[in-house]
Amino acid sequence: MATINKITITLLLLISIAFSHCLAFHDFHVEVQAFEPPQQEEQEGPGGGSGGGWEEPETNNPYHFGKLSFKNWFQSKEGFVKMLPRFTKRSSTLFRGIVNHRFLFMEMEPNTFLVPHHLDADSVFLVLQGRGVIGFVTDKTKETFRITKGDVVRVPSGVTRFFTNTNDTVPLRIAKIAVPDNSPGHFQVYFPSRSQFHQSYFSGFTRDVLSASLNIPEELLGKLTGSQQMRQGIMRRVTRDQIKELTEHATSPSNKDKDDKDISRVWNPFSIFTQDPIYSNDFGRFHEANPKRFSQLQDLDISVAWANMTQGSLFLPHFNSKTTFVAFVENGCARFEMASPYTFQGEQQQQQEPWFGPGQEEEEEEEMSGRVQKIVSRVCKGEVFIIPAGHPFAMLSQSQNFVAVGFGINASNSTRTFLAGQDNMLSNLDMVATRLTFGVGEKLAEKLFTSQNCSGFAPTVRRHQFPEEPKPSFQSIFNLAGF
Ligand SMILES: *[C@@H]1O[C@H](CO)[C@@H](O)[C@H](O)[C@H]1NC(C)=O
Ligand SMILES: *[C@@H]1O[C@H](CO)[C@@H](O)[C@H](O)[C@H]1NC(C)=O
Ligand SMILES: *[C@@H]1O[C@H](CO)[C@@H](O)[C@H](O)[C@H]1NC(C)=O
Ligand SMILES: *[C@@H]1O[C@H](CO)[C@@H](O)[C@H](O)[C@H]1NC(C)=O
Ligand SMILES: *[C@@H]1O[C@H](CO)[C@@H](O)[C@H](O)[C@H]1NC(C)=O
Repeated sequence: MATINKITITLLLLISIAFSHCLAFHDFHVEVQAFEPPQQEEQEGPGGGSGGGWEEPETNNPYHFGKLSFKNWFQSKEGFVKMLPRFTKRSSTLFRGIVNHRFLFMEMEPNTFLVPHHLDADSVFLVLQGRGVIGFVTDKTKETFRITKGDVVRVPSGVTRFFTNTNDTVPLRIAKIAVPDNSPGHFQVYFPSRSQFHQSYFSGFTRDVLSASLNIPEELLGKLTGSQQMRQGIMRRVTRDQIKELTEHATSPSNKDKDDKDISRVWNPFSIFTQDPIYSNDFGRFHEANPKRFSQLQDLDISVAWANMTQGSLFLPHFNSKTTFVAFVENGCARFEMASPYTFQGEQQQQQEPWFGPGQEEEEEEEMSGRVQKIVSRVCKGEVFIIPAGHPFAMLSQSQNFVAVGFGINASNSTRTFLAGQDNMLSNLDMVATRLTFGVGEKLAEKLFTSQNCSGFAPTVRRHQFPEEPKPSFQSIFNLAGF
């Protein structure tokens, strides 16, 4: 009888470990407030009709940007470009570190062309879906590259680029982060040609100057800057023949020899999948292109990440030491959990000045309240969430092939520290320190951070099977429990 009781207790202990080491990670924190935002509307459905301007956060979770947060920068039958407002518009204190970064998302319908333009911003693109060609023109060169899912392109400010979706069935989807030059968080687009809603930059010059500069008669200038109605937008339909021509001399990034000196050319695309995933098992894969490896990303100090998870799997709790991730969901839905010691509730009620210019910044008392807010959100395709540096974070996939991509700001010299799983930081605490730190006995201390044998990604369903597993031998139970 006594033995059976002991076994029962042991089993309970083991089960509770199985429950607590992975999912209920926040149990170790002081939990003050739980943010359980109303369930997001499922998937797609343009408009959605739930009102609310794009400035309004759709949830009371400041780290989560739903579809309505995006502003349509351009939209036509040929495609769209959407942009998130400046992050500091949402919260000037939480997002001060990314005040100068803007997130955009673009989709081009099959067989379309986006006219040449440049920005007063540096940018990094990630192709999410589809196939196309990106062209660069400068006064010395013209170069075109084939791009496809997983390709990363660093586009320098001021370089004129154009895009073609060369596929006849699949839209070309691109996520992009822009780092403006002229003013924090603001940039503009400059077009040599005019279109329905956009003027040509040539219209900023007088006719005398233009006529003399181009050495053409003034009557021809109308074509360039003309005021008569221009029906076509910046995205235009193209024929198969035109696509053939536009594609003809394009290079494929993957065909490039890795040792080719040219590869370091700042706008040479590369695939995020050329390197092995950093974490990979049956539950998920995580690819990351770091500026240490890809010189194209060095000066902006931005990394690009791609996670693909199976349903019910968990991206184990971890934090990034210096990097803030702007993450975008490309497929499916997931629960996103983060521990934040920062308070932000009051801030959302007052209409905050989005950005306190240098010198007039509000000096805030950083209180160390010792409190942790539990940030919980369901994030779905087309939505963005922010994972600031130092914030412990986990993600639970609720769809088959959940895919999230991320741009990591301040990427070099940042480390990722896991709080669970095989290589977790806390398993390196020695026994005494663990007991003292968590106030647990020897036996629990031994198991607390060593029971999860997966790394990176782990299943969540395993715990349900745990008690039903074929009865382990007494020997192994005692071994496990340290009897
Ligand atoms: C990135 O680093 C710069 C310079 O060290 C700092 O001013 C900025 O706040 C950092 N941004 C983030 C998001 O950590
Ligand atoms: C378009 O993409 C689909 C799916 O990747 C592919 O089967 C098809 O051949 C592509 N068509 C063209 C014209 O590239
Ligand atoms: C995610 O992984 C699955 C399984 O390997 C694969 O079929 C799917 O294409 C991947 N999705 C993306 C967007 O990478
Ligand atoms: C990263 O660390 C190295 C060595 O400490 C330093 O030289 C370099 O400037 C750092 N890079 C960034 C972007 O902070
Ligand atoms: C983790 O442990 C489970 C059972 O406890 C075992 O089935 C599995 O193979 C282990 N996985 C690894 C990666 O060691």
